[in-house]
Amino acid sequence: MRESIAIIGSGYVGLTTGVCFAELGNKVICVDNDDSKITKLKKGELPIYEPGLDSLLKRNISEGRLEFTTAIGDASKKACVIFICVGTPPKENGEPDLSAIENVAKDIADTSASYKIIVEKSTVPVSTARWLNDIMQKYMKTDFDIAVNPEFLREGTAIHDFMNPDRIVIGTDSKRAYGELAELYKPLNAPIFHTDINSAELIKHTSNAMLAQRISTINVIARLCEKTGADVETVAKGVGMDERIGRHFLKAGIGYGGFCFPKDLDALIHILRENGINAGLFEAVREINFDIRDHFAERVTERFSQSGGLKGKLIGVLGLAFKPNTDDMRLAPSIDIIRKLVSEQATIKAYDPKAMENSKKLLDIEYCSGMDDTARDADALLILTEWQDFKDMDLTKIKDLMKQPLIFDGRNIYNKQRMQDLGFEYYTVGSGT
Ligand code: UGA
Repeated sequence: MRESIAIIGSGYVGLTTGVCFAELGNKVICVDNDDSKITKLKKGELPIYEPGLDSLLKRNISEGRLEFTTAIGDASKKACVIFICVGTPPKENGEPDLSAIENVAKDIADTSASYKIIVEKSTVPVSTARWLNDIMQKYMKTDFDIAVNPEFLREGTAIHDFMNPDRIVIGTDSKRAYGELAELYKPLNAPIFHTDINSAELIKHTSNAMLAQRISTINVIARLCEKTGADVETVAKGVGMDERIGRHFLKAGIGYGGFCFPKDLDALIHILRENGINAGLFEAVREINFDIRDHFAERVTERFSQSGGLKGKLIGVLGLAFKPNTDDMRLAPSIDIIRKLVSEQATIKAYDPKAMENSKKLLDIEYCSGMDDTARDADALLILTEWQDFKDMDLTKIKDLMKQPLIFDGRNIYNKQRMQDLGFEYYTVGSGT
């Protein structure tokens, strides 16, 4: 067995990091203050849906490399390297709430009896690690080093992303901490970028902000395509062929959701403003992202205004999660779109392969057992998440089940010519049709 590692905070990032480090042969102890979550995890049950995580969790528990606890003391006694992966939710003003990090830092200090490497993995504004260092200086009774090691994994492909990173960023002034962390990541065979702590924090925020910016850019162009008859898929392909730009994150749709991009953009805007720097670029990215949801709902409303409005119309929604292969509904575009259509008095029924339980806490609509059930007697179908099941569905059967063959596709998953041949009235994002 290799290193002994502690992970504080067993949310998306913490849990994936812990399970994957265990899979790499380390002894890992994961901590969370949520009792029910830890009870579940101890039994090998996941509190979230993430493809492949389930079997890795069970295997590493049964092979004795992975354990769970609610007591930080259990972790800080056993491990030398402690990753802080707790949540940093936004306050009203967009500034992230760092109180969880502060509490964890004090608990680590209280319970540590030997040298520790404290690794900040939570996404935080630049200079947070310096502040963390000040707290540790004040409370820690033993030697310690601070490092920043941002995580770039995506929900839905978290294990693959952890195991196959484009780069590993390690920000630290300490040779010892760098050496230990580089050794931990060695089995991944990925480039390691050693930086100072502030730059490492800013690499993470800038990465998410740039990815969000690309999505809003292509979504604005999509609007122009709709007006002019150009096709956004063709535009994105042609633009992405420029190696300086690249083809990733140019998929037009109903905007980004999830907890990361919105939260991190808010935090970046806040810290730019605090430093007296114009944050207009990212404010526009954020505004466009919300406009695009309204615009999609308005296109549906407009289409129905030709036939008596949305009142009493039955709209089937396929896809609720903010992206496929997750059950995460946080800030999903589907929420705003469905609420808008409900306010126009449409009746909504919806289906998502994994996110319906989480959706029920947010949206009081009818939930369906599958795709056929969603299509049955519907006046229109909306595609809001690009699950593979929807891409593969039997469209001829779906057409027969619907009251009229009308689809609004917020993710552009079908071939337009094929849909026309099948007799659908088919609206996509970013094309004249
Ligand atoms: C994002 C980043 O991609 C990760 O690198 C980062 O680690 C993570 O945030 C985080 O900070 O924790 P995630 O939010 O899980 O990951 O998922 P993405 O695949 O980035 O998708 C985010 C949203 O953008 C989704 O709603 C997706 O539908 C949308 N999107 C993505 C588009 O609308 N168009 C695209 O071309 C790509």
